[in-house]
Amino acid sequence: MLTQIGGKIESDFTQPLGMLSDCHKRIRYFLNALLATVDHANRGSLTPHQRTSLEAALRYFREAAPKHTADEEQSLFPRLRRTDTPEMRVTLEKIERLEAEHRKAELQHQEADAIVHLWMTEGGISPEAHARLTDILTELSELYERHIALEEAEVFPLAAVLLSDVEKNIVGREMAARRGIESNNSNFGSR
Ligand SMILES: [Fe+2]
Ligand SMILES: [Fe+2]
Repeated sequence: MLTQIGGKIESDFTQPLGMLSDCHKRIRYFLNALLATVDHANRGSLTPHQRTSLEAALRYFREAAPKHTADEEQSLFPRLRRTDTPEMRVTLEKIERLEAEHRKAELQHQEADAIVHLWMTEGGISPEAHARLTDILTELSELYERHIALEEAEVFPLAAVLLSDVEKNIVGREMAARRGIESNNSNFGSR
């Protein structure tokens, strides 16, 4: 799902680093939607609008966000590691931290998903579960802010310099394939 956030034209698969940053906007958008809805909903049954908003956000984190993680862990980070340059050696530890944060975020999303699912099926949520859900979402928000800042300020700019156009093109093609999009369409030039 390519939700356009903020009305700005988004990158396409020929600009994989730009696409990764566009995904960050969606992560922030859907996490803020989760936080706002949980905050505004009283602990009883959810309004149809609140339910729709929660379902859309949970679906994004269940189905689309893991593709972003795979884009980084399977397509981008391995190519960066292989460059084996002095800059990369300094950044290696940070990439390991990013991967550990991916695992932590996955666990937190699973727990948040389970609590919201119970809320929807039971028509209410206990004060303890509501407080736990708020804590998880707040922690996730803080984690993503640090995480995205590190990726956008250090890792992606390094990739822009260290990876060749051919390698970036392959990253873009792998990202497209992950979303079931054929890479021989007009979004891909010969570069
Ligand atoms: Fe990441
Ligand atoms: Fe990311």
